Amino acid sequence: MRLESLQVLNVRRLQDARLEATAETNLIWGPNGSGKTSILEAIHLLGTGRSFRSHKAGEVITHGAASLVVAGTVREAPNSALRSLGIEKTSSTTRIRADGEPLKSASQLADALPVLTLTADSYHLLDGGPAIRRALLDRTLFHVEHVYLEKLKRAYRALQQRNELLRKGEFSRIEIWNAQFVVHAEEMDQIRRGATDRLNRLLAEFSASNDLPEVALDYRRGWKAGMSLAELLEQHSVRDREMGFTGDGPHRAEVRISCAGRPAAQVVSRGQGKLVLAVLLAAHAELIAEKSGRRPVLLVDDLAAELDRTSVRKALSTLLGTRCQTFLTTIEPEVFANAIDASTKVFHVEQGKIRSSQAALA
Ligand SMILES: Nc1ncnc2c1ncn2[C@@H]1O[C@H](COP(=O)(O)OP(=O)(O)OP(=O)(O)O)[C@@H](O)[C@H]1O
Ligand SMILES: [Mg+2]
Repeated sequence: MRLESLQVLNVRRLQDARLEATAETNLIWGPNGSGKTSILEAIHLLGTGRSFRSHKAGEVITHGAASLVVAGTVREAPNSALRSLGIEKTSSTTRIRADGEPLKSASQLADALPVLTLTADSYHLLDGGPAIRRALLDRTLFHVEHVYLEKLKRAYRALQQRNELLRKGEFSRIEIWNAQFVVHAEEMDQIRRGATDRLNRLLAEFSASNDLPEVALDYRRGWKAGMSLAELLEQHSVRDREMGFTGDGPHRAEVRISCAGRPAAQVVSRGQGKLVLAVLLAAHAELIAEKSGRRPVLLVDDLAAELDRTSVRKALSTLLGTRCQTFLTTIEPEVFANAIDASTKVFHVEQGKIRSSQAALA
């Protein structure tokens, strides 16, 4: 996947900014507060319908403006047709379109422009609760296996209904939802398991080739091993009734991240954690590419922060090894001088204005 051009109106301090990207590496540099992360945020908006920094569109829209617009052209492969995508948001509404036609859901945007991010918040994958790791796996699986989203929606809808009945004490109607929940949950588990197995093989490969301690995922499906979900719901029906919610299922799945056999959160420093995240991102990107035939666009914010020069090189070679189109931000472009090649396109951002700046690496 390649984002060829981007136009941003009223995203934070990017009031009217444009860039023409290369299909390979795009390096965006500039001082603090110039708008670097906001450029990645704008691409993320175009690829997912939402920001990675805020749930409230009102915070992302430039102060004093009523709405933001991000528009872009994308191409799936060098010879495929150019598509135009656009998103417009006010504080309470979202309108999205592709090739001039309105789209109904953000998942259609995600389908047109798959993106993966590595930002300051990505650390929560290591030190946060299970929900954020499940969310990453689910987003990746959306691109990997098209039926997955439908199964997830159905399982979670049945779960929601079941929980509502548990809360209201209407136990006699629960059976109706159990069957649906179980069928879709078991299918989700199969897909999640297959993907984590493949991710583990990719992680082993990438860790070794970049001279990093082995990163691995330990997937737990969210209900006891050796039993079917149907049996467990039956066995735990009293507990679920007392608690007022469903204690077993794919909503309780966990994907623990380990490094050289130990929980990553306990053994890695901040900088090492970032290398782990780079390997993780690369593996997810490769899985998406393998299964969907499309390489996602990588959005990597301030890669050099907290990394020494050797680690910058390792992280970069891991990420660029995926051959995905990549947008990198940095305060100091010199850090990348020996780590990226001449095909890299360099942009300078200052006070929300973007300009091409090839000389920065010289
Ligand atoms: N809604 C908004 N309207 C206008 N300006 C905003 C809004 N939200 C944030 N800003 C400003 O946008 C600027 C750019 O932020 P951004 O995070 O993109 O900068 P950056 O170049 O990534 O900086 P850093 O190097 O510190 O990470 C900040 O100075 C911030 O104060
Ligand atoms: Mg920033």
